[in-house]
Amino acid sequence: MDPRIEDIRTIQRSRGLLGTVALPADKSIAHRAALFSALGSGVSHIVGFPDSADPQSTLACLRQLGLRIETDDAGLVVYGEGLSGLSSALQDLDCGNSGTTMRLLAGILAGQSFSSTLIGDASLSARPMGRIMDPLAQMGAHFDSNGGRAPLRISGGHPLKGIEYALPIASAQVKSCVLLAGFFAEGTTTVIETTPSRDHTERMLGLSNFTVGTQKHIFVDGGRTIEPRLWSIPADFSAAAFFLVAGSIVPDSVIHLPRVGLNPSRTGFIDILRAMGANISIEKERLVSGEPIADLTVRSAPLFGIQVGGDIIANIIDEIPILAVAASVAEGETVIRDATELRHKETDRISAMATGLNAIGATVTEQEDGLTILGNAKFTGGTVESHHDHRIAMAMGVAGLVSSKPVTIHGASVASVSFPSFWEAIDELS
Ligand code: S3P
Repeated sequence: MDPRIEDIRTIQRSRGLLGTVALPADKSIAHRAALFSALGSGVSHIVGFPDSADPQSTLACLRQLGLRIETDDAGLVVYGEGLSGLSSALQDLDCGNSGTTMRLLAGILAGQSFSSTLIGDASLSARPMGRIMDPLAQMGAHFDSNGGRAPLRISGGHPLKGIEYALPIASAQVKSCVLLAGFFAEGTTTVIETTPSRDHTERMLGLSNFTVGTQKHIFVDGGRTIEPRLWSIPADFSAAAFFLVAGSIVPDSVIHLPRVGLNPSRTGFIDILRAMGANISIEKERLVSGEPIADLTVRSAPLFGIQVGGDIIANIIDEIPILAVAASVAEGETVIRDATELRHKETDRISAMATGLNAIGATVTEQEDGLTILGNAKFTGGTVESHHDHRIAMAMGVAGLVSSKPVTIHGASVASVSFPSFWEAIDELS
């Protein structure tokens, strides 16, 4: 890590957060804009590509695969050369902390004539990759891995065939991986999703799909070309979520969050916060690059506990750490269930949030698939760990804003994985 970057942050109680936050561009859309531009048959432009570490890992890997990517005043220029435009990387492809980079890139690399090795940091190297290796192997891909974890060695030159794949877990990363491999497969690849997950891939690529009952079928025909285009990336809803909670729980706050992506497969957290009593207004709704966006304003409001579980979990999966902070100070109990996937994120987020919140005075009980949060907590300050997880660091930072004594976060600089200016944004509003 760069020693100039401060890795310990101490957050004090705020007397009111006022102002406008410059949010980073959406991480999920940025990865996809870069990857789809790389496979596009011509020059694509990406306006507002974020400098967050995760999307930058995707760019670095694409450059290693021979892609010409330049910057101009508006953002990035990606010189796509079609589906067969990638070339063998001289070294291992380092996905850093980014599961989306590793899983989506694996789908693309499985269909290449050359071999590749995907590596990641300690956190990513501990995350499950069997979930992508299984469907890719069914398509004909060949792998070596460390017992279903990175490093992933993908052997090139094995022709892929289209499959019909029913997702065993609600995961946009697995869905996107299989669909991307489908571009390199003979015949049609169909992914069947029973629980909705974020739909950026099918939306951005304009993939055919239909829904029968609770099942969504998404198709891609092998060899289908991807048109070059201009992508404009909205602000990241999952980054906005930290301020939706901060603005709600810090008394006398009014926070404006402009140009926030409001793809319905991502915004269940607004419905949940509103059901808890939050005061969030949504203005100037419009479409940018096929994605709905709007300007949000949050004003402080008393929150109440809630029961959350079932299909909504996949929609709010990245917001659960900050939901746990809101629930701790809300009046009454909150129960979060069906969220076992949280144990497979950058860290085990169920355990990390229970430990962090209990350390500063909340009463949170860990369940196998979620959390039970007593509510009415008065945070009393303390020292907590980020566990090298950006969302844990930021969630605990927001908790510090309503704590009677300061909350010190060790490993705070990991926020730069998705939100490099997070700590400055908190300072500016305070
Ligand atoms: C993402 C999908 C989600 C999410 C992650 C980004 C994506 O992961 O948690 O932050 O961009 O596809 P899963 O698909 O594994 O649930």
